[in-house]
Amino acid sequence: MACNITIVSAEEIAKQRDYCKKSAPLLVERFGHTPIAFVHSYGCQQNVSDGERIKGMLAEMGFGFTDTPDNADLILFNTCAVRGHAEDRVLGNVGALKAIKQVRPQTIIALCGCMVQQEQVAQKVRKSYPYVNLVFGTHAIHRLPELVFKLIKGGKRVFERPECDGVIAEGLPVRRDSTFKGWLPIMNGCNNFCSYCIVPYVRGRERSRTPEDVINEAKQMIAAGFKDITLLGQNVNSYGKNDDHGVDFAKLHRMLNDIDGDFQLRFMTSHPKDCTLELLDAMAECDKVCKHLHLPFQSGNDRVLKEMNRHYDRKRYLYLIDEARKRMPELSITSDVIVGFPGETYEEFCDTLSLVEKVQFTSLFTFIYSAREGTPAAKMPDPVSHTEKAKWMSELLSLQEGIAAKRCALSLGKTYRVLCEEHHPDGKLFGRTDGNIGITFEGDKAKVGQFVNVKITKALNWVLEGEITD
Ligand code: SAH
Ligand code: SF4
Ligand code: F3S
Repeated sequence: MACNITIVSAEEIAKQRDYCKKSAPLLVERFGHTPIAFVHSYGCQQNVSDGERIKGMLAEMGFGFTDTPDNADLILFNTCAVRGHAEDRVLGNVGALKAIKQVRPQTIIALCGCMVQQEQVAQKVRKSYPYVNLVFGTHAIHRLPELVFKLIKGGKRVFERPECDGVIAEGLPVRRDSTFKGWLPIMNGCNNFCSYCIVPYVRGRERSRTPEDVINEAKQMIAAGFKDITLLGQNVNSYGKNDDHGVDFAKLHRMLNDIDGDFQLRFMTSHPKDCTLELLDAMAECDKVCKHLHLPFQSGNDRVLKEMNRHYDRKRYLYLIDEARKRMPELSITSDVIVGFPGETYEEFCDTLSLVEKVQFTSLFTFIYSAREGTPAAKMPDPVSHTEKAKWMSELLSLQEGIAAKRCALSLGKTYRVLCEEHHPDGKLFGRTDGNIGITFEGDKAKVGQFVNVKITKALNWVLEGEITD
């Protein structure tokens, strides 16, 4: 296994559980009632999944939960650093907490996650946000009970931001947001160092959980009634690459698919560089795996891809799409794109447009490039104005809107097996096709958490309408 990665021992986790027990009465004493926490995770599903483990630990400390900071005794933001906008939003929301702290000085305000893993951000919080009590980075999440204990015992601000290559912590309690749709982290960190991206700096090196730990957690989730499981990682395609157990992502799919039960599997996010034909075979052959591939391409131009340090070119990306569609003609493909990478010209951006036209994505996540301090791209000349980039973005969005409408229309008249995920106030149920397209249909609230067959009756741009056929 790579460099400075710590496998957290069972003793260490037991020690943290002890801190939970020791903290519980102190928290009740501090607040005069059962403490209540507000936890909000920004950013990607990995962060949301970390947030569920954070809530698991807080629950063991005796916390109840609320969905507003207004009446919370502990307010915790699990932050994201991927774009400047994400960071600004967090700091804006932290600023707004000052008023709460003035009225209720005992409130604990905590920041964790990717943004505060950056040294300069931690410094800024230390200086400019004195009412923030607890700050901890991505490699200290499993030590939350100890840090809360230290804070309430010592009364001083606690900053814990270990600089290491990452940890693997098994056996943490988890409090999932849903009872039927769940995240299952299989690896963490990233070794790719795309030149624009902060993630490898804040999440550490790639490290995979063992196949046994992944399978056991999947089995527990299925036994508990989970019907939709999303495997998570920054780059799930490189699952197991640094280990010698011989289980790669394709094999892991087959092992999970073999578990008995009525459930479906999804995964996020994959990198084209490590997307193998074996994985596409496994996706095609495993009946529980949703026929949806989220494969970020970022740019359709080879020079830009090289500058981005992506390790594939346009031809290779299109080849993978071809191979995937050969095996799964109904496959729904989605992607991420960056518009206005430093030095990108309009002609180069047109290669992104032509790739989008060629692939016909179901949907796209589009981002205007945002400079991240400490990444190589932040030092590259970036002559194109934001206004100009915003124009390119509009062009891309209107192209994709037409494509999405066409792709959605292909579903008309077809019947899909859909997990009912939500019941809306208008009396309609909401779910997703296995290709991850949202779909609404009339139905009873009692169906939430169950699979139903839905025939598509109307296709709008991003969402389908249908009716239950069984
Ligand atoms: N590991 C995932 C991506 C995680 S970040 C992957 O490689 O697919 C999610 C998306 O944010 C990226 O795919 C990229 O499109 C976008 N992104 C990352 N850094 C960015 C930056 N500095 N500016 C704009 N978009 C960025
Ligand atoms: Fe960032 Fe690239 Fe890693 Fe994705 S693969 S997290 S874009 S460095
Ligand atoms: Fe953001 Fe960290 Fe995820 S930077 S996108 S929360 S890995």
